[in-house]
Amino acid sequence: MNIQENISLKDYNTFGIDVKARFFIEINGLAQLQKVLELKAYPDKFILSGGSNILLTNDIEALVMHINLKGITVVEEDEEEVEIKVMAGENWHELVLWSLDKGYGGLENLSLIPGSVGTAPIQNIGAYGVELKDVFVGCTAMELESGELIAFDYEACQFGYRDSIFKNEAKGKYIITSVTLKLTKRDHVLNTGYGAIETELKKNGIVYPTIHDISKAVIAIRQSKLPDPKKIGNSGSFFKNPVVTKKVYEKLKKTHPEAPSYEVDKDHVKIPAGWLIEQCGFKGKRYGNAGVHDKQALVLVNHGNALGGEILELAQLIHQEVDKKFKIRIHPEVNIIK
Ligand code: EPU
Repeated sequence: MNIQENISLKDYNTFGIDVKARFFIEINGLAQLQKVLELKAYPDKFILSGGSNILLTNDIEALVMHINLKGITVVEEDEEEVEIKVMAGENWHELVLWSLDKGYGGLENLSLIPGSVGTAPIQNIGAYGVELKDVFVGCTAMELESGELIAFDYEACQFGYRDSIFKNEAKGKYIITSVTLKLTKRDHVLNTGYGAIETELKKNGIVYPTIHDISKAVIAIRQSKLPDPKKIGNSGSFFKNPVVTKKVYEKLKKTHPEAPSYEVDKDHVKIPAGWLIEQCGFKGKRYGNAGVHDKQALVLVNHGNALGGEILELAQLIHQEVDKKFKIRIHPEVNIIK
């Protein structure tokens, strides 16, 4: 069992926070994972996957298990659809590129999202009008306590906006080992309704887009707004967009008629947290090594050697100021590890 000691996690989290794992192991297979879970010498374990949705604020004393399970297999297919099982350690965007290469539709709007496949269901990743749940069939997860593999179907995952059972009652109890998705082989259902996609396609003179065109458009939009974690540490949207009642929104519109919103249901709207944060004057501001991205205020960035605590302090300040100005509370979508 190759357990390493005092390993820097800087390259294992997209925020690029330089904390240490007291103990660290690379998990390459299911049998090995079961054995590691049985190790009595390391009672506390910490699961690290793509590291794209966490803010590390301290060294980790538990045994860090880096999930590196690989492989994509076709479970079943007919002329119209294909079901694929993807191991948790596969990189999400590489999976999207693989699917496009095969001509499979369904993942194109989710292009360029950092992170790995195994973490996608935890927060039900979503972008440009599509969420993971729209292509999700099920996932397999190993129960930490028993080492047993448990199947979760769509219903069992209880998906919501950036939410699932794995953020609630199943939190900290399972390691997702594989995810099964259903993609289309023809008659792809295209999602071009999101304003920015329409604009990008128009700009390129595309009237009848293919899944490849949509992916290219999404990549261009993301690259124009979101910082590349390889160049500047970040974790995508730091906060969730708050869902408020229409009554609250109407009140907000009296003072800010330009306030954007997305309809959730007949009584609720989502307000872009990026807009609320920008209104509070944070966009592009820098606080030591922590900062707010200059093109998308929902994204907090690590300008250099920021400590996790510095990012967290900035997040708390933003939360306070947004609450003070708008009486609206915004909550992190990033997992904060204290
Ligand atoms: N806005 C501002 N200022 C800003 C940022 C946004 O005014 O600094 C306003 C603009 O009016 C803009 C609107 O907010 O039109 C929406 O902005 P954007 O299209 O960038 O989307 P978002 O609501 O800020 C969400 C997701 C993103 C996802 C995009 C596109 C959440 C928390 N974030 O952001 O997801 O890529 O929609 O679908 O729901 C992520 O989760 O890490 C992520 C990047």
